[in-house]
Amino acid sequence: MSRLCSAFVLVLASGWCLCGADVGNFAPCLQFFHRSWPPKGLTGTPICQRYNNQYRFATLYSRARRSPWLSAYVYGTPAGKRPSASWKFEPQVRTLKHGRMEVQPEELAYPGADGNMIPFPPGPVDQNVVDSQAVQLDYINSTFSRGHLNPSLHHQSREDRSATFTLTNTVPQKAGSNEGPWEVLEQTVNKTLTAYCLGEAYLVTGILPYLSGERWLKNHRVAVPEYMWSAYCCPNYNASLPEELRDTFPTYAAVGRNDPNSTEEIVPVCKTAKKQFRGYDVRRMPLDSLETYLKERFGSVVSVFYEQCSGSD
Ligand SMILES: *[C@@H]1O[C@H](CO)[C@@H](O)[C@H](O)[C@H]1NC(C)=O
Ligand SMILES: *[C@@H]1O[C@H](CO)[C@@H](O)[C@H](O)[C@H]1NC(C)=O
Ligand SMILES: *[C@@H]1O[C@H](CO)[C@@H](O)[C@H](O)[C@H]1NC(C)=O
Ligand SMILES: *[C@@H]1O[C@H](CO)[C@@H](O)[C@H](O)[C@H]1NC(C)=O
Repeated sequence: MSRLCSAFVLVLASGWCLCGADVGNFAPCLQFFHRSWPPKGLTGTPICQRYNNQYRFATLYSRARRSPWLSAYVYGTPAGKRPSASWKFEPQVRTLKHGRMEVQPEELAYPGADGNMIPFPPGPVDQNVVDSQAVQLDYINSTFSRGHLNPSLHHQSREDRSATFTLTNTVPQKAGSNEGPWEVLEQTVNKTLTAYCLGEAYLVTGILPYLSGERWLKNHRVAVPEYMWSAYCCPNYNASLPEELRDTFPTYAAVGRNDPNSTEEIVPVCKTAKKQFRGYDVRRMPLDSLETYLKERFGSVVSVFYEQCSGSD
């Protein structure tokens, strides 16, 4: 009975059902999830991130936080330089009279838009956009950088890379993390996947909110995460792995600190790290450890990958 109950609660809490016309859905972009199976156990607004008439990745967005819970994408070996950032917004995301947000291509913040993300105009931004999501001014003169969940580095084509520069894919991230251990993680994952992943690699990168007492960017619009996390699933890999990578396939995960003042239960601090990066450590861990922390933090069972990425592709 108790098992039935918890299964029932999970379905209710998961938010993936198309319960009403006021939520978007991942149906057009399931290809960015392993086995077309979006993570379970988190509630938010699904966004199929579209740029130049193609879906590029998927985001589970929080209207209340004006920032994403997670972004999911398929890894592509990078080629060439990081594109110069042209920051974009999501015309599909708008606030409704009832204060809820919807993602519906036929009702746009910008009339005439076609579901593609749009670069911020040089001048003032439509109030509908300002109300529903983070804008450039939220980050300017704050003490946080724009932290990509889906990073430009993990994509091959210029357009896939440009598409990551949308504020619906970013969270307030301290520079000490973004330019330090978190960047090292992104590079390590890049190297590991290009070297040993033989088929598709599916990544999901998200955040852990503070347990109590949310923090916000300066004008109280965009919530700051306490931690960032990331996990990959590569079902088809080269089994002749070097000793140090033995535990990192088919799936592996990590959690990174975004606040030097956080306690050390989830990620210990390396006291000898360079001063600018101290307190921004990243801890690598198996997927089930990550899922334990997700469960603790969200108060519900969170499953990142279908059957924890076990089994063949
Ligand atoms: C940012 O801070 C600088 C220096 O205090 C100030 O001149 C500038 O107007 C601020 N910009 C915004 C957008 O608040
Ligand atoms: C990412 O991986 C590719 C392929 O191994 C490599 O050429 C490139 O230098 C890597 N980029 C970074 C920033 O690590
Ligand atoms: C698998 O890795 C081994 C050792 O690094 C390498 O010799 C071999 O060519 C790789 N196989 C494939 C299919 O990439
Ligand atoms: C950490 O806590 C100290 C003391 O409360 C505070 O001065 C500092 O601004 C905090 N650092 C960050 C990055 O929040």
